[in-house]
Amino acid sequence: MTAVPTTDANLDEIRGGALAALENVTNPTEADAWERTYLGAKGELTAFLRRLGSLPADDRPAAGRAANALKQELTAAYETRSQHLAAADLERRLAEDAIDITLPGREPALGVVHPVSRMIEELSDIFALMGFQTVFGPEVETGRYNFDLLNIPSDHPARDVWDTIIVESDREEIVLRTHTSPMQARTMEQTEPPVRVVVPGRVYRYEAQDASHEWMFHQLEGLAVDTNITMADLKGVLRELARQLFGPERRIRFRCDFFPFVEPGVDFAVDCAICNGQGCRVCKHSGWLEMGGAGMVHPKVLQGVGYDPKRYTGFAFGLGVERMVMMKEGVGDVRAFAGNDLRFLRQFARFAV
Ligand code: PHE
Repeated sequence: MTAVPTTDANLDEIRGGALAALENVTNPTEADAWERTYLGAKGELTAFLRRLGSLPADDRPAAGRAANALKQELTAAYETRSQHLAAADLERRLAEDAIDITLPGREPALGVVHPVSRMIEELSDIFALMGFQTVFGPEVETGRYNFDLLNIPSDHPARDVWDTIIVESDREEIVLRTHTSPMQARTMEQTEPPVRVVVPGRVYRYEAQDASHEWMFHQLEGLAVDTNITMADLKGVLRELARQLFGPERRIRFRCDFFPFVEPGVDFAVDCAICNGQGCRVCKHSGWLEMGGAGMVHPKVLQGVGYDPKRYTGFAFGLGVERMVMMKEGVGDVRAFAGNDLRFLRQFARFAV
């Protein structure tokens, strides 16, 4: 009998040792080890419970109750300790990972609107105020829209391979549009007069590049068709455009020119805002800056889309968009626009998005 220590003394020993050891537990790994030592299947308390059988029958119930009470006490102590450790661990990680929100952020690199896009927006706004809707058309066109419906017959030199980029010629003639004028016919086919649209977009020509020629550039087409439209309307609209773009003093000049889809046809220019028409480097000492071609829509074009040329008349014009930027910003070489040189583009940083 004496070989077995009294239950109380044994439990007190276990309790004292366990609680003291728990005081020294400082992290979750140590807590796990502690739990195994005192509460686990091979732990001290379990061993004690196993020895219960060797106690006198009278002592067993009290010893069992005391052992279970201790198990509960140690479990509770273990849980409290674990919670403290977890909270302390969280505190530590929060402190370590803390972000100093008082530091100024890094400024993101913002792009700027390309000067050609900016000019297209400006032109669209000006024409919107005059009642023109902005529409867009395909850059890959059929010969029918790029040429035929514009009164450019198959033997016209503009259809020559030298200025047209041909995509497909076997079954049907498919080209990269050489101008935005195909949208004249497309628009008229889709709607009845009155028509008032502007069409900005890329155009392509198979030609040698130099300071004033690119194989890809942008145009802005204009078209107005209604009853009683005259050349005076065309002049008024283009003069208003010149003034909105280059200032209220500006005057415009029309000279005879030929385009198969207008009659009469003109080229139009604005007097140079830089020298006030006196002649300078920018206007090549002529006093005038050429803006594009224009004219009254040819009756054959109206007929081709099913409009009655006796009832309706219209005007059309085509502006070179890069050219407008060159005049306005004093850019000397058209190749700069698609050249992708950031030093050039950054000069337009004021067009920030
Ligand atoms: N499409 C012509 C060109 O590319 C310009 C133009 C448009 C002329 C409309 C007259 C009328 O040169």
